[in-house]
Amino acid sequence: MTEMPLSAEAYLEGLFEPDAELERVKEGIRENGMPEISIAPGYGRLLTMLTRLVRAEQVLEIGALGGYSGICLARGLSAGGKLVSLELKQEYADLAHKHLREAGLGDKVEYRIGEALDSLEALSAEGRRFDLFFIDADKGNYPNYLEWAIRLARPGALILGDNLLMRGKTTDPEQSGNAVTKMRQFNESVARDPRLEGVLLPAYDGLAIARVRE
Ligand code: DHB
Ligand code: MG
Repeated sequence: MTEMPLSAEAYLEGLFEPDAELERVKEGIRENGMPEISIAPGYGRLLTMLTRLVRAEQVLEIGALGGYSGICLARGLSAGGKLVSLELKQEYADLAHKHLREAGLGDKVEYRIGEALDSLEALSAEGRRFDLFFIDADKGNYPNYLEWAIRLARPGALILGDNLLMRGKTTDPEQSGNAVTKMRQFNESVARDPRLEGVLLPAYDGLAIARVRE
């Protein structure tokens, strides 16, 4: 019997031990009828590693969903470090918080509910600064979120963004809606903005990694 080759992603994922805490998040998202669009597992591991590598004490996430990326970020925090997670929907934040508590990370996270642009304004007024940002919310605001992240960044901070490729829309010249146009603008900024040193990864649905220059 012939077997179909695995995708590169499926093959590489298969090498890792199952992660019970993250599986629990995906189950909770399914049970609650929420969109099953958590970050890809390989990028989740990268979030943890990058958070650890920059010795992040203050991390800001835009878009909590069910807490999958929140767990990955909180796992990488330095001792005493904190994650601020911005989420539009109270019920999503409640489920995300439950999942972080179940993973023993509940006291490391603060959720702020409502429009992320309002929360970003408030964080700025409070003088808050962050070592690492993860942008994974409404795609039409990615360029705005990038500007806010640069403003709230400590020198050398990392800014990460999910879904650069929008499941093929970004590279399709027939697509010209607002979200895809803003995503192209975001990607160009990561590649070319002189304030940033950027990397754009094409695996899964695409991930941006930008370092804010000192
Ligand atoms: C989709 C995936 C995401 O990771 C996201 O943040 C938003 C939408 C999607 O596949 O539709
Ligand atoms: Mg995403």
